[in-house]
Amino acid sequence: MRLEGKVALITGGGRGIGKSIALAYAKEGAYVAVSARTKSQIETVAKEIRKLGQRALAIKADIRKEEDVKKMVGTVIQEFGKIDILVNNAGVTEKKPTKEIKDLPEEEWNRIIQTNLTGTFLCTKWVLPHMINRRSGNIINISSALGQKGRPEKENSVAYAVSKFGTEGFTEYLSKESKEYNINVNALYPGVRVDTGFFNHLSHEQREKLARSEIVTEPAIFLASQRPAAMSGKSINASRPIWK
Ligand SMILES: NC(=O)c1ccc[n+]([C@@H]2O[C@H](COP(=O)([O-])OP(=O)(O)OC[C@H]3O[C@@H](n4cnc5c(N)ncnc54)[C@H](OP(=O)(O)O)[C@@H]3O)[C@@H](O)[C@H]2O)c1
Repeated sequence: MRLEGKVALITGGGRGIGKSIALAYAKEGAYVAVSARTKSQIETVAKEIRKLGQRALAIKADIRKEEDVKKMVGTVIQEFGKIDILVNNAGVTEKKPTKEIKDLPEEEWNRIIQTNLTGTFLCTKWVLPHMINRRSGNIINISSALGQKGRPEKENSVAYAVSKFGTEGFTEYLSKESKEYNINVNALYPGVRVDTGFFNHLSHEQREKLARSEIVTEPAIFLASQRPAAMSGKSINASRPIWK
């Protein structure tokens, strides 16, 4: 039980990678709050966590809206008294691949940046004061291999890639800012394509070739279980790199 007595808040915890991390944390003894916009999905995950014998909260929130984020964090503090672990996991990608930047509609750029980057900023902004007060905390930002190296010829997703470069930069900046408070801030990414809502458009055969979302759970537990003033400012690839 590597997370006994800990409280975790996981954004985008209703399905995919966030759901796998939420269940893994509960199995390690944590109380877990999951949030997303789809109520039925987060409630299902919360039920699964309770079946594992842990306390769980399902909080409906759109991380692009500061009022939602403020309420979400307030609910966790009210119910569980603290937040030890924040996993900034919620994310979206391009609805359809965009070959060239000139073809990407501004609304699509804004939707992705506001979710992946502004959402991460807002959740961190509202959780951080609680961690600062306690001089401890682990923040884990879910990034991507696409946030490491620009590969337009492979991916056709400039807004997503830029949002993940931003996640990496935010992680580095925040880790330095949080150092004096002993808070660890790290990025974690699967390093391979994972079979989640991101790949609903693929055929069953194509999806079977993708990695399972559990690929990230061991490093996610490791990062969440770190003591104060431990490893910070790193970006961890959960598997082998996609590109050499
Ligand atoms: N799948 C991959 O291959 C892969 C690879 C590298 C990195 N990642 C990263 O992994 C993270 C999780 O993605 P996934 O692959 O598990 O995709 P997913 O199955 O589509 O899950 C995304 C989660 O984010 C939530 N979400 C999206 N927009 C939101 C918003 N505005 N407010 C609150 N929650 C929101 C979704 O719930 P609602 O829609 O109900 O709000 C859902 O729970 C993302 O940061 C993604 O960039 C994925």
